[in-house]
Amino acid sequence: MQNLQFTPIGVVRSRYTDTAAIPKGPGAKHDAEGTIELRPELEEGLADIEGFSHLFVIWVFDRAGGSELTAYPPSDDRPHGVFATRSPQRPNPIGLTVVELLGRTGPTLRVRGIDMLDGTPVLDIKPYLSGVPPETLRRGWLDDAERRMAR
Ligand SMILES: C[S@@+](CC[C@H](N)C(=O)[O-])C[C@H]1O[C@@H](n2cnc3c(N)ncnc32)[C@H](O)[C@@H]1O
Repeated sequence: MQNLQFTPIGVVRSRYTDTAAIPKGPGAKHDAEGTIELRPELEEGLADIEGFSHLFVIWVFDRAGGSELTAYPPSDDRPHGVFATRSPQRPNPIGLTVVELLGRTGPTLRVRGIDMLDGTPVLDIKPYLSGVPPETLRRGWLDDAERRMAR
């Protein structure tokens, strides 16, 4: 398969400079505010984004350091296949975060829900839309882990 190369569209500005400071594990809440600073020449691409309450942010775990096919998520005491988790240590170190859009100033978006380190490269932004009815969603090993870890 061919290798692919992407150029970041921008960077995350976050209060987090150390992964230890980012909430993780059972019940972790992501309500940190921050900004996504797009390259100024891409500003035109943000036209009409203000109408969306939430966005998908696709980004790079640029400080992940290697990948493992088995992951040990902080929300469980059992291992899982990396593709059944959100582990940073994955074959392609791509992160996906849903953020709430609070506002925009030129090429800069102010958002809530940051779980990225300061300086994280951003590959893409898309409006968050979900057509999946909640009653059809299955949460895999997470439901079981939450029950066990709460005991
Ligand atoms: C469990 S991952 C989930 C990220 C994203 N919401 C996802 O699902 O792809 C979040 C963790 O990634 C780590 N992290 C955040 N930014 C990073 C970066 N730029 N490089 C490497 N690790 C990072 C932090 O430890 C953070 O707690």
